[in-house]
Amino acid sequence: MTDSLAIIEQIHKSFDLKDFNSLAIPAKAEFFCSIDSVSQLQQALVYAMQQNLKITTISGGSNLVLAADVSGLVLHINLKGVSTSTMLDNTVDISVAAGENWHDFVTLCLNNGWHGLENLALIPGNMGAAPIQNIGAYGVELSHFLQSVDVVNVETGQPEVLTDEDCDFGYRTSVFKQSALDKYVITGVNLRLSTQSVTHVSYPALADLLQGVEPTPKIVFDTVCQLRRSKLPDPKEIPNVGSFFKNPIVSKQQADQLMATYPEIPMFPQKGDFTKLAAAWLIEHCGFKGSRHGKVGVHHKQALVLVNFEGNGEDILLLAENIKTQVAEKFAVELEVEPRIYGHTH
Ligand code: EPU
Repeated sequence: MTDSLAIIEQIHKSFDLKDFNSLAIPAKAEFFCSIDSVSQLQQALVYAMQQNLKITTISGGSNLVLAADVSGLVLHINLKGVSTSTMLDNTVDISVAAGENWHDFVTLCLNNGWHGLENLALIPGNMGAAPIQNIGAYGVELSHFLQSVDVVNVETGQPEVLTDEDCDFGYRTSVFKQSALDKYVITGVNLRLSTQSVTHVSYPALADLLQGVEPTPKIVFDTVCQLRRSKLPDPKEIPNVGSFFKNPIVSKQQADQLMATYPEIPMFPQKGDFTKLAAAWLIEHCGFKGSRHGKVGVHHKQALVLVNFEGNGEDILLLAENIKTQVAEKFAVELEVEPRIYGHTH
């Protein structure tokens, strides 16, 4: 491992994370360091081990809730760079550093004729976080394009490469949220895109807007941006982390029972005997949509999005608990929080 002394000068003490989380929660990191290179990351890991500091990794900060101040060393992953190699079979392989902004990258791809990611336009956050929750929208998921993920092993400090299979992707989940939680820091993502036009327009909201239109990648990109802007608040204007809960997957039997009581309930059949429900619909039908609870609330256009009006992590988590309880009481469905919660006091 590399000598850790050089990193010390770049470590800030008691650092305010308000500008580093899209819920704008004013929590503090005990120690904070911005990471611009893999060798700097390795130095920081050595330092943390020597000082017995717990490591917390953040990047765009758009999928985390700071429940309290964060003890230990917070690493802000700011690695930059995009490189490509064109393949013979109308595909392009692209390596993207973890600190690249997701939407800027999707825009770059569109402008260069590298296709596939148009449905994922405007998702907040950076590349490194994308595989953790396998970001998805409008019928497309990151895992469809992912070849491998570059990581540094937190314990050994060594770079490793995880294949698509190693990542064990599912709906809003991966190995990074399960068995490899906190085992690695993601430094880059390797994708394979198409140099030919491909479009995915079967998602109902997208299909509605594109009726009678011959879709091109640019049209899909623009329509997705239009859809998101019409429903989802911009975190820079109204702090939020996108969907606060995952859409619950229930047995077909339970779905049928719900359908008998609520014939208009949206249902999305899954593989096997399972059905995905719309958490937004369940929350809306418990009366939360557009409601305000002190310094936090539920967005008036999308009930799955909790918004922060100068509250803190505790306010947000209290509202989330309240929503979970009421949805469980009314529909007997358990909602699962989607963003990662940091800074537990217990
Ligand atoms: N709906 C309601 N009330 C609402 C909003 C939606 O009843 O306030 C209903 C809609 O009528 C529709 C269903 O819920 O029948 C689904 O709504 P929508 O298409 O808006 O998507 P979603 O399930 O609420 C998911 C993702 C979003 C993604 C959209 C579009 C999850 C947890 N969320 O939301 O992802 O943008 O689909 O594909 O899967 C995110 O993860 O942060 C995120 C924003």
